[in-house]
Amino acid sequence: MSDELIHKPTAKNNESTKILRFRMSERLLHWSLAGPFLVCFMTAVILIIFYNPFPTRPYRLLFSWVHRISGILLLILPLFAISKGRHDWRLHFYNIKQAWVWTFEDIKWLMLMGIATIFKKIRLPEQSKFNAAEKLNFMYLMVTYPFYIMTGALIWFTDVAFVSWLLHCYMAMLATPFIVGHIFMATINPDTRVGLHGMFSGHVDRHWAKHHYPRWYREHFEQRLGSETEK
Ligand code: HEM
Repeated sequence: MSDELIHKPTAKNNESTKILRFRMSERLLHWSLAGPFLVCFMTAVILIIFYNPFPTRPYRLLFSWVHRISGILLLILPLFAISKGRHDWRLHFYNIKQAWVWTFEDIKWLMLMGIATIFKKIRLPEQSKFNAAEKLNFMYLMVTYPFYIMTGALIWFTDVAFVSWLLHCYMAMLATPFIVGHIFMATINPDTRVGLHGMFSGHVDRHWAKHHYPRWYREHFEQRLGSETEK
């Protein structure tokens, strides 16, 4: 797939200290998933920890309905975001490919990432648009997303929902380290939280991107700068 279709060169991309990491369609899809997912997740934690041992406590129904309505939004909002950003369908497929195609470098990155945070001398293998941990997060979300919706609907609308309930809860439990880790990296960890800007404005610091996603940076920005200079 041609890079031109994915990251169109703009004056801003070539000159400023900021580069475009996520287009509007990518950001819209991210937040349309993240918003309802987080509400579902938090209300589920409250329902299980606070209400399951004592179901007669007040306001249980309120939390249950907020959970259900955000479940409906988890289905509707991403569909709306995909339809609004349909002109960027190649970019969405590119992102999916980035998450699902693994190289030996990704495995090495995953194995070394823990000790590299302690021993700063260890050099991690170069990463492309998403690092291996982000790839796992992306893949887990893609695989489980349809099952959250299906099992949720079965729990809500049928009488034989025990297996669905188990699957619904296990998937959410397994998602916990991904979600907590993801939000920690995006908002607290000083080395990675720089990227949060990219999910709001689309742009991130050029040097940060070059350091964290060197292969992606080279493929989309350096080669283009080179070819533009040659012209
Ligand atoms: C307050 C909550 C959240 C914040 C601040 C946040 C922030 C971010 C940021 C900054 C990125 C881009 C990272 C990069 O530059 O590569 C990102 C990517 C992504 N986010 Fe979120 N996110 C949040 C919640 C969620 C939730 C709940 C989900 C899942 C339903 C999610 C799924 C993803 C996926 C699949 C990606 C692409 C792969 C990755 O970077 O892990 N995010 N998010």
